[in-house]
Amino acid sequence: MYRSGKLLWKGFLAMNRLDEFIDQLQEEIFDDARQALGEKGFDRWRNPKFQGKMENPDGWSHVTGSCGDTMEIYLKFQNGRVHKASYFTTGCASSQICGSFTAQLTFGKTPEDVADITAEDVLNAVGQLPKEDTHCTTLAAGALQEALSDYMSR
Ligand code: FES
Repeated sequence: MYRSGKLLWKGFLAMNRLDEFIDQLQEEIFDDARQALGEKGFDRWRNPKFQGKMENPDGWSHVTGSCGDTMEIYLKFQNGRVHKASYFTTGCASSQICGSFTAQLTFGKTPEDVADITAEDVLNAVGQLPKEDTHCTTLAAGALQEALSDYMSR
């Protein structure tokens, strides 16, 4: 009985150390991500906005990037302007952030304004990305233009 109590206590201490280790590890991962993505991008990654597929969009797209990840953009218009927009991606954190800011950039815009949105605009909206992830802006902007083409062709 005493022996098993001692074992339980040792197990309890080990669990506490494991919890501390996991907390510390998560903190370090978040610090790295904050540095790489900037405060704005990090916040959007932790609290994604405009995420998800849309029912009955007026225009939508499904694009596969050179990295193999996919991006979908959904647009809904009202009185000739974007009323709702959302994205869905199978990609990395940067592609999620890019999809989210791309959707945000379209709100209240006419089709002509949407046609002018470029990968550079997406990067400006995000603020910063790791250099190796800047192609995610191209994927998001490309998906947006495909969604617009889909809307225009209806
Ligand atoms: Fe493929 Fe970001 S979209 S790495």
